[in-house]
Amino acid sequence: MAEDAVLGYLAQNGDLADSRKFANEHGFEHDEVVNVIKSLNGFQYVVATEYEEKNWVLTDEGKEYAAEGSPEFRLFSAVPTEGVSLKELEAKVGPTVFKNGRTNAMKNKWLVMGKELVTRKVEHVEDRVKDLLTKIQKTESVDQVGIDELKKRKLIAEQKLKGYSVVKGINFAPKRRKAVTSLTRENLQRGDWKDLEFKEYNFAAKGLPSEGGYLHPLLKVRDRLTTIFRMMGFEEMPTNNYVESSFWNFDALFQPQQHPARDSHDTFFLQTPSTTKFLPEDYVERVKQVHEVGGYGSRGYAYDWKREEANKNLLRTHTTAVSSRMLYQLAQKPFAPKKYFSIDRVFRNEAVDRTHLAEFHQIEGLICDSGLTLGDLIGVLKDFFSRLGMSKLRFKPAYNPYTEPSMEIFSYHEGFKKWVEIGNSGMFRPEMLLPMGLPDDVRVIAWGLSLERPTMILYGIDNIRDLFGHKVLSALRS
Ligand code: PHE
Repeated sequence: MAEDAVLGYLAQNGDLADSRKFANEHGFEHDEVVNVIKSLNGFQYVVATEYEEKNWVLTDEGKEYAAEGSPEFRLFSAVPTEGVSLKELEAKVGPTVFKNGRTNAMKNKWLVMGKELVTRKVEHVEDRVKDLLTKIQKTESVDQVGIDELKKRKLIAEQKLKGYSVVKGINFAPKRRKAVTSLTRENLQRGDWKDLEFKEYNFAAKGLPSEGGYLHPLLKVRDRLTTIFRMMGFEEMPTNNYVESSFWNFDALFQPQQHPARDSHDTFFLQTPSTTKFLPEDYVERVKQVHEVGGYGSRGYAYDWKREEANKNLLRTHTTAVSSRMLYQLAQKPFAPKKYFSIDRVFRNEAVDRTHLAEFHQIEGLICDSGLTLGDLIGVLKDFFSRLGMSKLRFKPAYNPYTEPSMEIFSYHEGFKKWVEIGNSGMFRPEMLLPMGLPDDVRVIAWGLSLERPTMILYGIDNIRDLFGHKVLSALRS
């Protein structure tokens, strides 16, 4: 390594007068030695002084003469003692040597160039030009007369060479100490901090580009879903009421009052205000009836329905509460088919783990029209989920108090290589729709799923808690 060689040389000799000579003698490229010297100079291991050296080097023509002899010498050598005709001589040496050698051979009084015949004027000549060129090639010294002559004949040219002369600097050491970037506890304990070389602060260094302004993954997926719903002709339902009465959340949905979901273990009930102020009384009466004794072809649940239960305020446990309000409103006007959707927050009194949170988001879709069938539901679900990139679907019979039939929705996950549950769906029961006042032949197909599930699948997040708080940032960055 050039650095070790330079430092070693300085340690032994005190100074290094000529970087070019040094590179030559030690078998390094001069550039490499220069880089080492500059770097050592920067850390004050050495003090380097630049010098410029002028040097004569051979031109291409000079190199040729150094190798083959000067043209005048070659011309002279081609002339035999008895002489030779001009033509023959030119043919022998070639036109270039003939032309270039002629003048100098005459000037040197080597040859007599007659009209017909060329003859030697002297017996023996020496190729001084070639000798001079060879000396320059070997960087031997040549007197000024010689230099001037070669320069005039453009056989040599001046070359400026830069190099360095080097002496030891204030930080000199025969081996470079690695600059450290931090002072550790161990350095202090061992006491070696005294000998450490610290890396300089680089105040001009650029910092990491600051990142910000990301959309949350849930918002991005929500936007995507909203677009899908709108493209399919759905209108968004108003979901701006986290607080709901048990009536709209459960009773209107034909969910009996003893249902375990209505337990405080599963639902957050409000303390203040603990009850709702307003419910549509005639509709409440019909709901009470259908729970207690049935009607519309149903036998009901045969229990004592209590108004106080229905009045209890809670944090809505599903956005189907919104759907029940909307369908009731729809039933108060002359019937017109509707497609509704919503995406918003719901709350469940649940132990938090890697797949459950106490608050999450639900996506809800419903279509309300006369004569809809389960086939319509399956078709709509296939259309909807294929737009999300999930085209392999399977359905499994399920139970909801408010739908019959009910189907859980599964999608084949190419990454996990298995079927994963992605949602729940069904056809709202007549016990729910008829007390609202919807016409007999109107059917409502509906489905619901969490927003977190498809987001986790799309972002490869396997712990639902990573979707919230600071942890979501790492998911975003990757
Ligand atoms: N509300 C159901 C749930 O919380 C989802 C659902 C919506 C099921 C509409 C059927 C119809 O999971």
